[in-house]
Amino acid sequence: MTEPSGFLAADLLDDTEVAMERSLRPRSLDEYLGQREVKAGLSVLLAAARNRGEAADHVLLHGPPGLGKTTLATIIARELGVNIRYTSGPAIERAGDLAAVLTSLDERDVLFIDEIHRLNRAVEEILYPAMEDFALDVMIGKGPSARSLRLTLRPFTIVGATTRAGRISGPLRDRFGAVYRLDFYADEDLVAIVRRSARILGIEVSDDAAVAIAARGRATPRIVNRLLKRVRDHAEVHGDGRITLAAVEEAMRVLEIDAAGLDATDRRLLAAIVQKFGGGPVGVGALAAVLAEEVETVEDVYEPYLLRMGLLDRTPQGRVATERARSHLAALGYEVPPRRAEREPTIWGVVATPDAAAAFDPPADLPEA
Ligand SMILES: Nc1ncnc2c1ncn2[C@@H]1O[C@H](COP(=O)(O)OP(=O)(O)OP(=O)(O)O)[C@@H](O)[C@H]1O
Ligand SMILES: [Mg+2]
Repeated sequence: MTEPSGFLAADLLDDTEVAMERSLRPRSLDEYLGQREVKAGLSVLLAAARNRGEAADHVLLHGPPGLGKTTLATIIARELGVNIRYTSGPAIERAGDLAAVLTSLDERDVLFIDEIHRLNRAVEEILYPAMEDFALDVMIGKGPSARSLRLTLRPFTIVGATTRAGRISGPLRDRFGAVYRLDFYADEDLVAIVRRSARILGIEVSDDAAVAIAARGRATPRIVNRLLKRVRDHAEVHGDGRITLAAVEEAMRVLEIDAAGLDATDRRLLAAIVQKFGGGPVGVGALAAVLAEEVETVEDVYEPYLLRMGLLDRTPQGRVATERARSHLAALGYEVPPRRAEREPTIWGVVATPDAAAAFDPPADLPEA
């Protein structure tokens, strides 16, 4: 993967980044910027649980990477004044692993399950009665003498997170009392996040520079924070450390991030559709192969923002680069050949060469049927 793709990586890149994420992570709903509807819904849910002195309803958070799902899970526990345990779908291999975690929770604790769509079936089935009745069904013995024993658990709250809600089974989804979708952030919220992060890190950022960083941050707090850090590095090496618009623009040029916030891989993706696949539609598998990325990465990491920007369309036949993508690429100097549809007119869904298409063109004087 090329360097700039690092901005999209879900994993933290190095130790300084781990430290940075920790220091920048909002600790309360008040500090958590944007996502007003989610916050409004959550604050009612949390207040109700606190008032009743009960465990909060199970909460499912879904949305693209870096929008603040893990952060929100941590805030939920903090606002409830309880402990939080972190685990993930792939980390819980056997039903026994989940049973061990569940029995170790204190009353009203939060169990955060990241990538919850990757839980295996056997584990998921243990989770159903646990979420519904705080009960654990364990099998004792083998063969004819085997019997099932029901253990009662202390009430707890599951906070599940996923980048793909569509992959969660119906029965699991139904067991969440609240489901929130995190959406890409509005521009003004991103600017506020840049300012907040700059303040915490002690960086001086001019107003237009903050806006410019926010505009290139893919509407994603994690990326905005990473860009801020990279621009600061740049400003320290090439200037006096203060972040001006010129410093932002120069750093972005070096990072190959364009004015729309697209990085080299985004542009390769769009250019592949336009140049290799006649503008689309093309299957995501073929696209992933051209980019040497996994299908899941293309779907979860690259596509959501391109779709949001109106650069990409998903059709039943596959991915299509929009007119907007074509002009974006053309403005950057890419070769943009005509669409396949323009080059090779299709007749009844069959791709025909221009000659064949001409031969099938009905004569102008054909009477109407
Ligand atoms: N609403 C917010 N306000 C301010 N900063 C935020 C907000 N949401 C997220 N951040 C920042 O973005 C970083 C990434 O957020 P987080 O790790 O919670 O994303 P995520 O949705 O869990 O991503 P992934 O799907 O990759 O696990 C956080 O460390 C935090 O600094
Ligand atoms: Mg996370």
